[in-house]
Amino acid sequence: MIVTSNIQIQKTTRSRVPEVDFSKLEFGKLSTDHMFIAEYRAGEWQDARIVPFSNLSLSPFALGLHYGQTIFEGMKAFRMADGNISIFRPEKNLERFNISARRMCMAEVPKDLFMDALHQFVALEHEWVPKTEGSSLYLRPFMFASEARLGVKPSDEYYFMIVASPVGPYYSQPVKVKVETDYARAAEGGTGYAKCGGNYGGSLYPAMLARKAGFDQVLWTDAKTHSFIEESGTMNVMFRFGDVVVTPSLSSSILDGVTRDSILTLAEDMGYGVEEREVPVAELEQRLQDGSCKEAFGAGTAALIAPIEYINIHGESYRLNIQQDALMYQIKKRLTDIRMGNTEDIYGWNYLVKL
Ligand code: COI
Repeated sequence: MIVTSNIQIQKTTRSRVPEVDFSKLEFGKLSTDHMFIAEYRAGEWQDARIVPFSNLSLSPFALGLHYGQTIFEGMKAFRMADGNISIFRPEKNLERFNISARRMCMAEVPKDLFMDALHQFVALEHEWVPKTEGSSLYLRPFMFASEARLGVKPSDEYYFMIVASPVGPYYSQPVKVKVETDYARAAEGGTGYAKCGGNYGGSLYPAMLARKAGFDQVLWTDAKTHSFIEESGTMNVMFRFGDVVVTPSLSSSILDGVTRDSILTLAEDMGYGVEEREVPVAELEQRLQDGSCKEAFGAGTAALIAPIEYINIHGESYRLNIQQDALMYQIKKRLTDIRMGNTEDIYGWNYLVKL
C-alpha cells in the first residue's frame, strides 16, 4: 500500500485499459480499475482508500437498502486539447452532495476529503480518460447508509465512494416528450432538490408508461396542480421563447443542476435574456401554437443537452423545427470548447488534475 495524505492506495496488479475499445462505449457499463471508499463510523470518516474495483460485502440489514438513505452525484473528467485532464466544476457537485446529505439526514463529506479523493482517484485512473473529443470519464460519487438495523432511523454509519466509467460522445437524438399529468417526480417540501436514489426510482414507472405510449420521456409538472413545468426526464428543462432562455426557477422540487447553471451563464454572456421563473403548461402550449417557443431541451451532466422535438400536451402533439444553428447547439459548442481548453475558461470551471 502507498500512503498519500490520508488516502491509502492499493493498485490493481493488472489494468483492464488495454482491453477497452474506446470507440464503443456504452453509458455506465464499464467500470475503471479502481474505486474510492471511506467509511463513516463513530462520528468520523475513516479508512479512506483507493482499491481495485470489486463487489462490496454488506449486511442485509444495511439501512440504505431498506429506507433509501442513498445519494449520488454525476460529473465528468475530460482530456483537454493540450493533454491535461480537468474535472468540470467538481466543487459545485460537492456543495450539492452535502445539500442532499442534509436533506436525507446523512453525514456530510468534508471538502478536503471529497476533493482529495476525487483528485487522487482521477489521477490514478488517468489512462481511462478517453482521448477522443466528446468522450469523457463519468465520475460517480455516492453515499449510502450501512448501519445494520431494521428500525427506521437515520443511520450512524455510511460508505462514501467514488466509481467511474468511460463514456463516449452523447449524440442525443431529438426526443419526444409528454407533459405528465398523472404522476409526479417530486412534491413541494419533498426531496426533489436532493440527488437521492428515490427520486430516480420513483420516476421509472411513469417513464415506462410514457415509453409504452410512444414517448421517450416525460415533462414533469408540479405535484399539486400539474400546471407548471418542472423537469424533463432525469434532467432540468429549458426553453427558448423568442430570444429569451426560460427555465423553471429552483424550488424544493427541482434539482439545482450544474449544467443548468452553466448554460444560463453562457446564454446570458452570449447576449440572450435569461429567465428563471414559473413555466405554466398553458403558456408553453400557447407558445407552441403561436411559434414563439423556438427550442426546448433537457440539460444534465450525462447528455449535456438533449434536444426536444415533440411535446405532447393533453394529447395534442407539437413539433419544434430544430435548426442546425439552434442556440442550444451553440451553447453546447461553447461549453465543450471551454472544457477542452479550446476557449479561455474565464469562469474558472475547469479543475485541473495534476498527474
Ligand atoms: C444527468 O443527466 O446527469 C443525470 O443525473 C442522469 C444520471 C442519473 C445518469
